[in-house]
Amino acid sequence: MSSIPGPKTKFYQEKALKLFPGGARPEASTFIDTYITFVVDRAEGDYLYDVDGNAIIDFSSGWASNNVGNVHPEVLDAVINALKKYGFVYNHVLAFELAEKLVEITPPELTRVRFEVSGTEAAEAAVSFALTYTKRPLIISFMGQYHGDSIGARMIGALDGERKRYFEAYMGGVLFAPYPVSYGNPMLLKMTPEEYADYVLWFIEDQLLEHIATPDRIAGILFEPMMAEGGNYIPPKRFIEGLRKMADKYGWVLLCDEVLTGFGRTGKFWAIEHYNVPVDLIVTAKGLTGGLIPIGAIIGSEKMMAETVAFSGSTFAGCPAGCAAALKTIEIIYRDNLLERTTKLGEEALKIMKEWVEKYEIVGDARGVGFLLGFTLVKDKDKQLTDVELARKVYVEASKMGVRAIWDDEPHVRIYPPLNIREEALFKGLEIIEKAIKKVQAEAKVGTSTTES
Ligand SMILES: Cc1ncc(COP(=O)(O)O)c(C=O)c1O
Repeated sequence: MSSIPGPKTKFYQEKALKLFPGGARPEASTFIDTYITFVVDRAEGDYLYDVDGNAIIDFSSGWASNNVGNVHPEVLDAVINALKKYGFVYNHVLAFELAEKLVEITPPELTRVRFEVSGTEAAEAAVSFALTYTKRPLIISFMGQYHGDSIGARMIGALDGERKRYFEAYMGGVLFAPYPVSYGNPMLLKMTPEEYADYVLWFIEDQLLEHIATPDRIAGILFEPMMAEGGNYIPPKRFIEGLRKMADKYGWVLLCDEVLTGFGRTGKFWAIEHYNVPVDLIVTAKGLTGGLIPIGAIIGSEKMMAETVAFSGSTFAGCPAGCAAALKTIEIIYRDNLLERTTKLGEEALKIMKEWVEKYEIVGDARGVGFLLGFTLVKDKDKQLTDVELARKVYVEASKMGVRAIWDDEPHVRIYPPLNIREEALFKGLEIIEKAIKKVQAEAKVGTSTTES
């Protein structure tokens, strides 16, 4: 096995500097080191293979999309057959079959489906339906949430301020509340995560509604049932229950963005099932098609969608190959008991990751449900002072040692393996990440790192 990055990878890294935006900036080499540590030549099952012939354990699953592993052969066959039979057409049989299937596997109050191409489009469609149905102009969203990178999706999310630069003025229709995070916030040195979640509910009702807008102008709440991109936070049940109570009180709709958490990632088909709280609409994409052909969808209630026709969608929404891939992915998840398996192996993985918190000064917290896993790097554990640069280093070291996890300018490293990852690959991957933590800790003088989140 050659080393990572090997000579062919370096050849592509040079190309990237010339071809991709920002490549001419002096700091572009950090970008290359971070994001193009290896260049994929082939993907199969639990592994990615780079252009230098290295096998890399895939803990990213195409950014949580390849939930049944890379290029699952049955999903691939379904796609090829659909392409042969339909190419690209509208009103094809598979769209009806998939819509019925989605209704069957979502909570009973969700009965109507509209297809989109991506999660971004689906999140925007959810808002389009909420505003059109309620005839109200505003929505509430949460700081740290991500719904995509189109202008609309950036405005309804708040992952980071950089995403709003030059677009700040487009944000008018959205009121933001803090997300009930469980780590890395000074309030959490004084409050339990449950108390902090209560504070957030209080903030919405007593601050936003009192000082910013009256409840009759608000259409609904857009929320991630577990905040993935923003750091893998799992809110307490009482928070989701509180949102439902408020929505009922004020005639709002609850829009649940499951683009990343859905399709089994958390060990239940939908993350919202962990809370047993009804919502008015689920947003889905990513894992929906096993990662092979992009489609997204919203699945909404009779109340919201039976009579409302809101504008959304684009040309390739619900294309035949995407629907075929989705139908096969759903079949595989149930047939192979991937939900139970994800729950069990996720618990075992989290146990190992929690040991890292005990063992390593630079690991402040580990959290997750199922295969929505992550850990936070810190420069000061007692103060929960998080550290983006340490997280970047652990992610880069792990990549060089043969594991692709997820890091995106954040103080966390996230681990989103395919639901059907072989146990051997899962535990080997975790061992490699631990080695990367050890190496970075040995190299870092804890307390002198500069980047704080
Ligand atoms: C919660 C959530 N919503 C929406 C999106 C956007 O989905 P897509 O990248 O398919 O457009 C993402 C992507 O990461 C996401 O995590």
